[in-house]
Amino acid sequence: MKAVHIRPGVHEDVPALQEIERAAASRFPAGSLPVTVACSTVSDAEFHAGAGDSTLWVAELPRPKAVGFLLARPEGTCLHIVEMDVFPTASGLGVGTALLNEACTAGEDRGFVHVTLTTFEHIHWNAPFYSRRGFSIVPDPRAFPHLAAALAHEAEVGLVQRVAMAKKCGPTLRPTRTPRRRSARAVRSAPVGLVR
Ligand SMILES: CC(C)(COP(=O)(O)OP(=O)(O)OC[C@H]1O[C@@H](n2cnc3c(N)ncnc32)[C@H](O)[C@@H]1OP(=O)(O)O)[C@@H](O)C(=O)NCCC(=O)NCCS
Repeated sequence: MKAVHIRPGVHEDVPALQEIERAAASRFPAGSLPVTVACSTVSDAEFHAGAGDSTLWVAELPRPKAVGFLLARPEGTCLHIVEMDVFPTASGLGVGTALLNEACTAGEDRGFVHVTLTTFEHIHWNAPFYSRRGFSIVPDPRAFPHLAAALAHEAEVGLVQRVAMAKKCGPTLRPTRTPRRRSARAVRSAPVGLVR
């Protein structure tokens, strides 16, 4: 398997990322996305804000071909994932997992308390995918005003079976060069490559 390279997104990436977003939308079962949603993308302004805030990451497989991206934005104490998409032909190769790890590591390093998102509850590469990577469904989204607002907006545009999810930021294990003596931080952490 080829290694996934993750790099910060830049303003020049935006058109290619919108193309990936449109292509990824074709993966959803017929009827899950209202036509207006399926045909639209995250706005240029939101992408550019992510590039400016260093909350946009691009996956290349192999370099320099962009095959996926994750766009997030700060929402109070949360790093909120606005969108994550992988080009369908590159799906299932670990690209989405690598992007998610990058965002969770950034959330931890930048002092956020949670990484949050909204997604489909019933589609197996949505909520189940995130729950296998440490996210939990937020039972009362009013606890996070931006999640309540996002769900309300999604209901307005016709999306159903949506849920809000959150993952508490915690130490992410990175490979260590000193295997014989593990630091207290390493002992508390999950196996290499996994984000809790
Ligand atoms: C969600 C998404 C970004 C994941 O990206 P990815 O690169 O395929 O992710 P990975 O390769 O790291 O993992 C794929 C996961 O999806 C699951 N999956 C389900 N159906 C799959 C399929 N048809 N092909 C590949 N993977 C599939 C795999 O089982 C795997 O989960 P697991 O490792 O826990 O078993 C990608 O599927 C996508 O762009 N989907 C359409 C848009 C979307 O749903 N965006 C997220 C909105 S919240």
